[in-house]
Amino acid sequence: MKSSKVILVTGGAGFIGSHVVRRFVNNYPDYIIVNADKLTYAGNLENLTDIDTKPNYFFERIDIVDKQAVMKLFSKYEFDGIIHLAAESHVDRSITGPDEFVYTNIVGTVNLLNAALNSWTDRKEGKLFYHISTDEVFGSLGEAGFFTEETAYDPKSPYSASKASSDHMVRAYGHTFGIPVIISNCSNNYGPNQFPEKLIPLAINNIKNNNPIPVYGKGENIRDWLYVEDHALAIDIIYHKGRSGETYNIGGNNEWKNIDLIKLLCQIMDKKLDRSPGTSERLITYVKDRPGHDMRYAIDSSKLKSELGWSPLPEFEKGLEKTVDWYLSNTKWLERVISGDYKKYYDQQYSGR
Ligand code: NAD
Ligand code: DAU
Repeated sequence: MKSSKVILVTGGAGFIGSHVVRRFVNNYPDYIIVNADKLTYAGNLENLTDIDTKPNYFFERIDIVDKQAVMKLFSKYEFDGIIHLAAESHVDRSITGPDEFVYTNIVGTVNLLNAALNSWTDRKEGKLFYHISTDEVFGSLGEAGFFTEETAYDPKSPYSASKASSDHMVRAYGHTFGIPVIISNCSNNYGPNQFPEKLIPLAINNIKNNNPIPVYGKGENIRDWLYVEDHALAIDIIYHKGRSGETYNIGGNNEWKNIDLIKLLCQIMDKKLDRSPGTSERLITYVKDRPGHDMRYAIDSSKLKSELGWSPLPEFEKGLEKTVDWYLSNTKWLERVISGDYKKYYDQQYSGR
């Protein structure tokens, strides 16, 4: 069968990337999907064992910061589209070590833009550079209001500043060089395969092992949670139906105070682990706040819904239960990712907090 498209997915071994790769490999057998990933601590090929022998899937281990390696990749394949997810993604790590965020998130993105520009000089129509970004570029909200596509950028952490820079570079390449680009800015994702440095999988793992659940500050910060497969669906729809040059906000319309979310998770875990009600909640431990901690994120995704017909699955409790079930039945995955370097990170991040 002739391939109708060759698509590069960067960061496809990570949390969201693996769900995107799976969706595209399964739903579009006539596409070639090339997953390019450095396999940092957050990248794990085990996330893709169910699809990695499919004939339309290829893996390339590359560091997007390495310009030569990126150019070589683009001379090996003729890409029609790029879905760019590779990034350093954890805010706490960006506070203890911002440099890697500058290299991967900014320099890595520019390397990919240059390679795309170089290989699409003769023909740009039908091509697309789709950049996956975050709602954190908009900064922090007060009690009311939502981030829209028109909200001014106001990033507050090294992570969000690096993502904002990459968004600006993508728009600049679109505007100046005429590369077809789209950006989407999404709220907090949760679901299977998320590295357990992020709040939900970290809490599930600690509750399971009867360890303290570290809640930053007073636990009053608010996040808008979206199931990862709903994000992958949005990416699919935007890739195929989105308008070049546009930005789309993606969110769950599902705001939770951290402490309320943790309490709900404790109730679910008590049931799953056959513990008496209230047992897991006793593990909640308030710790020193994250420096510069953004108070509230909330996304207005009405443009995506009305223009492109996307909608997320509404039931957060069900999604959370599905996530808990996945972590409880994938203990080997969890054990492997939390060994070695992760243990060192955990001790540094939480000791003395
Ligand atoms: P993740 O940390 O789970 O995965 C990142 C992937 O990128 C890993 O597989 C890693 O190996 C790879 N990678 C890192 N540096 C690389 C490099 N130099 N070269 C090649 N590959 C490299 O991240 P995630 O949570 O899946 O996020 C994916 C993307 O979505 C990121 O761009 C992030 O900013 C964005 N995003 C995430 C969320 C969220 O809630 N997790 C929400 C909105 C947007
Ligand atoms: O909004 C989208 C962003 O969501 C993505 O761009 C990022 O890649 C992703 O990591 C996520 O950022 P957050 O900082 O919101 O996610 P995190 O899971 O680290 O934290 C969620 C909230 O929980 C936040 O208010 C900090 C708090 N927290 C986090 C950890 C790890 C705690 O209270 N305790 C913790 O141990």
